[in-house]
Amino acid sequence: MTTRRTLLTRSAAVIGAASSGLLLPQIVRAQSGKIRIGFMLPYTGAYAQLGVAIENGFMMALNEQGGKLGGRDIEVFKVDDESNPAKGIENATRLVQRDKVDVLVGTVHSGVQMGIHKVARESGVLSLIPNAGVHLATRAQCAPNVFRTSFTNGQPTSALGKAMIDKGHKKAVWITHSYAAGDEAFEGFEQGYTAAGGTIVKKLGLPFPNVEFQALLTEIAALKPDAVACFFAGAPAAKFMRDFHAAGLHKSIQLYGSGFLTEGVLDAAGEAANGVMTTLHYSDSLDTPRNKQFRLAYAKTFKLQPDVYAVQGYDTGLLMIKGANAVKGDLSNKKALYAAMEGAEIDSPRGKWTMSKAHNLVQDIYLRKVENKENKVLGVAQKAVADAATGCKMG
Ligand code: PHB
Repeated sequence: MTTRRTLLTRSAAVIGAASSGLLLPQIVRAQSGKIRIGFMLPYTGAYAQLGVAIENGFMMALNEQGGKLGGRDIEVFKVDDESNPAKGIENATRLVQRDKVDVLVGTVHSGVQMGIHKVARESGVLSLIPNAGVHLATRAQCAPNVFRTSFTNGQPTSALGKAMIDKGHKKAVWITHSYAAGDEAFEGFEQGYTAAGGTIVKKLGLPFPNVEFQALLTEIAALKPDAVACFFAGAPAAKFMRDFHAAGLHKSIQLYGSGFLTEGVLDAAGEAANGVMTTLHYSDSLDTPRNKQFRLAYAKTFKLQPDVYAVQGYDTGLLMIKGANAVKGDLSNKKALYAAMEGAEIDSPRGKWTMSKAHNLVQDIYLRKVENKENKVLGVAQKAVADAATGCKMG
């Protein structure tokens, strides 16, 4: 994936005003040229498919509105962040300083998000988080210019423990990629599961994006739990389900997960995904006109079935549209822009949602089960789940 760079187009009069110091360059851009959108997403590596789905969803929302934001044309810049935290700050800086984007849309991986977050807080550039659930971004380090349209890592798993106990699974092993996303998903799981009377017999992990699961599966077989609960996403999630199944563990141990486990990978996992139960803020099979209409339009446009990442990208686009329309495309009017985004009620394929004061969603979490390559909704596991927002002083 290459980064596209284009020159700013400004009228001579505006350039004159800017160079004589009458207008700040930022304001010049805000009122004249195109709105510059910077996608910082994984386009290669373990989470590549997730990045593409987010971009597709975002562009679909904008294209439904004639491809404009607040009446202004848009220009897109892209960086492949490879889900590599070591390059997070450098990649985000490139979009902000070199490409001079008005809004950063990214990313998937929590570690990379912390790089974007640092750059966003220091530069003041509008930052929209379409996936990464890292707690800090909307807890102690929450910021007026940062909005998350996805979830916090602990949100989907907060409803998982009770659902497992309801099915009689009282002894569980937890397994994850060991980094913020998995560790914080564990926090949500541990709280709910132990409160409902469950016992976590072992916590297992391996570094992202390693997918050598064999030794850990052997350990799980020896521990003989009632259930395994996990956090994996993207290509590693498909491999984990296939390896779990190939080892025969599905015969005696129920597999559960944060719902990312079964998003976008049902074809890749094949029969190994059947019967896997998860909790998430979305499900393909939500029987609402809004979800059905979205799924049809997405499949028609991209020749792909949408997943939770496509929905999150779409919702990010919808939120951006609300904000940009409220200020008629003048993104330099930050007070009004942020107020419009804070007050937005978004009619999403996942159901209607609103923003919390910390700029994170309050949303229902569904219990799902994979049947015939579909995440079937079994019900709402927990209604209107809000993040604790610990340490956030906004609002
Ligand atoms: C994350 O790193 O925050 C993350 C990645 C993939 C997911 C969910 C969370 O599906």
